[in-house]
Amino acid sequence: MIAESRSVRPRKGRGAMGRRPMIAGNWKMYKTPAEAVVLAQHIDNLILDDPRSVESVDIVVCPPFVDLKSVATVLEFDHAPMMLAAQNVFWEAEGAYTGEIAPGMLADLGCSYCIVGHSERRQYFGETDATVNKKVHALVAAGVTPIMCCGESLETRDAGGTEAFVREQVRAGLEGLTADQAAEVVVAYEPIWAIGTGRIPTPEAANDVCRSIRATLGAAFGQPAAIRVRILYGGSAKPENLGLFMPEPDIDGALIGGAALDAESFVSMVKTAAGFAE
Ligand code: 13P
Repeated sequence: MIAESRSVRPRKGRGAMGRRPMIAGNWKMYKTPAEAVVLAQHIDNLILDDPRSVESVDIVVCPPFVDLKSVATVLEFDHAPMMLAAQNVFWEAEGAYTGEIAPGMLADLGCSYCIVGHSERRQYFGETDATVNKKVHALVAAGVTPIMCCGESLETRDAGGTEAFVREQVRAGLEGLTADQAAEVVVAYEPIWAIGTGRIPTPEAANDVCRSIRATLGAAFGQPAAIRVRILYGGSAKPENLGLFMPEPDIDGALIGGAALDAESFVSMVKTAAGFAE
């Protein structure tokens, strides 16, 4: 019954909803400033050969903090059709916070987006829904769009708790935004057990969680805002499997780790996403 309803559903609802696909590369703690310049230039050279991708996909690179300036310079001088994102931020505007980076600093460097709440930050650096929420508000105030990550552990999945867990992360992380602010946020659904492991959920299972995320957004911010939010899949997304996720109606792109560190593989994923743009 479920399979039948899937087979007859429209191929894609995203275009009609005005959701532009996004392909974002999270470089994590890889690439020195010099290496980052080479990678950004290589990506730029490859995508310039493909105007359809440039026209139809938001292409985002997320280098480490120390690379942001050098990559920003490449993007600016080459007029590269890519946007820049940071991987983390602190929520205060300025102050005596040794080692931290303020939202306004990212905006000044040309960051359009910033990842918040990645599971690696939650796991290794004590990030919580409450600190994610502070970061989300601080970024929005500075004009930088959050890419807010959520996703369950294998334990939670095996216990059948995925949707409740992820819904709560999304509710708490975005709490207090206006509907217009929430509509601009990007949510990345990244099952922790799929990150860097080569394991992936079925596209249908990933979409079920993404649909549930959208329902949570609808309950919190209203349906018009919920249908505007872009939801990305992340976790061992690769050139070989992105084409399975992209047809899913609530998946609007991908947040890519390992496969984003190679220009050819990243750009091939951009091209795949362009094939699903409407
Ligand atoms: P991988 O694509 O390497 O699994 O990483 C996913 C991720 O964590 C992106 O933020």
